[in-house]
Amino acid sequence: MPKRSYGKHFVIVTVIVVIAAIITIIGLGSIRWMSAPASTQAHSVDSLLGIELVAIGFLFALVMVFMLYSLVAFRRRDNEETDGDYFEGHTKLEITWTVLPLITVLALSVLGARGLAQATSAKADEMTVHVTAFSWGWKFAYPDLGIDASPTLYLPVDQHILLQMNSVDTDVIHDFWVPEFRVKQDLVPGVPTQLRITPNKIGEYTVICDELCGTGHTNMQAPIQVVSSGDFDAWIAAQQPSTDPAEMVKLGGELAASQGCAACHNVTGDPGGIGPTWKGLLGHEVKMTDGTTVTADEAYITDSIIHPLAQIVEGYQPIMPGSYGEVLTDQQIAYIVAYIKSLQ
Ligand code: CUA
Repeated sequence: MPKRSYGKHFVIVTVIVVIAAIITIIGLGSIRWMSAPASTQAHSVDSLLGIELVAIGFLFALVMVFMLYSLVAFRRRDNEETDGDYFEGHTKLEITWTVLPLITVLALSVLGARGLAQATSAKADEMTVHVTAFSWGWKFAYPDLGIDASPTLYLPVDQHILLQMNSVDTDVIHDFWVPEFRVKQDLVPGVPTQLRITPNKIGEYTVICDELCGTGHTNMQAPIQVVSSGDFDAWIAAQQPSTDPAEMVKLGGELAASQGCAACHNVTGDPGGIGPTWKGLLGHEVKMTDGTTVTADEAYITDSIIHPLAQIVEGYQPIMPGSYGEVLTDQQIAYIVAYIKSLQ
């Protein structure tokens, strides 16, 4: 039996592939994958993603149209008993489907390498911020500005930032990720890492830990404020230590929320929390698992923050992270104690 001609089928399939590819690419392009970019490093990431979506849309259309078309056009009709045509190799086709993907992948790797080089290259006038990760939170220090610990990452807009990152943990990896900045970086125990960002849009963002790191992983977030240089200077001025009692209580409350304390210690007096309630804690007689009784004075509360596992309150598990003594400054611990004192 002479082989059938497939020219007509190829013309039809080509037309359908083109139409299906255009529809798929427009569909993929209309999805909001991520929030709007807010750093100069985001540009190369987003343009590469755009190119990849076009390639993905085309390949999807190519595979699906060929498959579905073949299912319909070459199905077995009634009374059709013979086998289909037999093809043995097609050198030109095989060279084409080897060389084209090779060129595409090489081109994408060059674009990716260029984007990575741009995003990681050192810039003039960088401002250094130290990022410390702990289980489960973040703290930020500005060594050139005399700010030792901030629970919020304040950044002036259009300023090149060098983030120098360390983890106080010894057992888990955290990952610094701000979706709007696009770039991300792991924090590995014992290995200092760094990340460069140039925020170019004033706004509020969130640092998200993007490495599964334990029970507190989903809460391991920290706020970011990208502000004008004037607002940034005002924030620096406001970072001087406070001795005003009302201000200390307010700062302590903010720290309790941002450092994860509030996840386990409620302020409602409910005894059923993961950790003891803070309401009415000061002056309260606390019974320990070792049978002793302690009066919860300021020294006891301070010591419990720094050495949480030294003594465990009866009825609770020894699960509080022991890193707060390293993570918080003495000043910040004083704010938190002032806040707990206020909860009578
Ligand atoms: Cu730290 Cu997830």
